[in-house]
Amino acid sequence: MTPDALTGWDEETTAEAYAAFARAWPMYGDTSHDLARRAGLVDGRLVVDLCGGTGVTAGAILERVPAHARVLSLDNAAAMQRIGRRTLRDPRLSWVTASAETLAAHVPARGVDAVVCNSGLWKTDVPAVAAAVRRVLRPGGRFVFNIGGGFAGLTDPNVSAGRAGPSLDALIHQIAARDHGYSPSPRTGSGPKLPLATVTRHLSEAGLTVTGTVVKDQLTTVAERKAWLSIPVFARPDGDFTHAQRMRMLEEASARTDPDATTVTRWLVVTAQRRAKAR
Ligand SMILES: C[S@@+](CC[C@H](N)C(=O)[O-])C[C@H]1O[C@@H](n2cnc3c(N)ncnc32)[C@H](O)[C@@H]1O
Repeated sequence: MTPDALTGWDEETTAEAYAAFARAWPMYGDTSHDLARRAGLVDGRLVVDLCGGTGVTAGAILERVPAHARVLSLDNAAAMQRIGRRTLRDPRLSWVTASAETLAAHVPARGVDAVVCNSGLWKTDVPAVAAAVRRVLRPGGRFVFNIGGGFAGLTDPNVSAGRAGPSLDALIHQIAARDHGYSPSPRTGSGPKLPLATVTRHLSEAGLTVTGTVVKDQLTTVAERKAWLSIPVFARPDGDFTHAQRMRMLEEASARTDPDATTVTRWLVVTAQRRAKAR
C-alpha cells in the first residue's frame, strides 16, 4: 500500500469500491468530462482512454466522439475492467488489459486522434508512456491528462486558505499515532513526483509539445473525501494496518468533522500535442 496507490487495483474489493464511489460522487466524472472536452474529440476516429479503470473516462469520451468513432480503454487491472465491461456497453468501445507503457503494441502507429488519461499518469513510467503515446498519435493529435496537485507539487489550497480545523487525513494520522504509535514513513527522494517541469521534459524528449496547462480546483465535501478514503487503495494511513483498522480510524476521524464542510482537490491539467517531426 502506497499513498499514491500504485498497486492493489486488480482486486475485486477495490474495483467494486472504486466503481461505487465514482457512481455516487462527482470527482472522477467531473475530471473525466473536463479532459474529454479539452481533447477536442468532435472529429475523433480513434481515441484512447489510458489507465481507463472501470470506464468513467471512456463514458465521457463516448459522449463527445462521432457515431463512427472507436474508443479503446486500456488499463492493467482486469478487476477494474470487468466492471466496465459489465456496466458500460457501447459498440464503439473496446477494452484492452495491458500496461500503459505497452500502448504502442495495441494500436496502430500514428492511428490515434487523442489519448486521454484521467488520474493515472503519475502511477506509470512516464518517459515510457510519453514515448508510446507519441508513437500512436497522429501528427497534431492530443495527449490530455491531469496530475494530482500533491504529485505535481502545487500548493495545497486548503492550507493556504487557512482552513478551520485539521483535515480528515490529518485526524487519521493523529489517531494512528495515538493508538498505534504510527509515524509517517519517510518519503523516498525529496520533492514532488511529477512537477510540470519534469513532465514537460519527458514529453519533449518523446516528441510531444505542451500546448496548455491549467490548475483546476475541485470543490468537494468532507463526506466525499471520507467516501474516497474508504476505497482500499486510498485508505490511510500507510503501513502495516488492516483495512478494518483503517476504517475504524476513518470513522473516528470523520465523527470529529462536519461532513458538509468543503475541501478543495487541486489538479494540474496538461494538454500536449504530437509534433509533426521528432527532434
Ligand atoms: C484512479 S484510477 C482512474 C481510472 C479512470 N481513468 C477514471 O477516471 O475513473 C487509476 C487507474 O490507473 C490504472 N493504472 C495504474 N498504473 C497503470 C499502468 N502502468 N498501466 C495501466 N493502467 C494503470 C489503475 O489500474 C487504475 O484503474
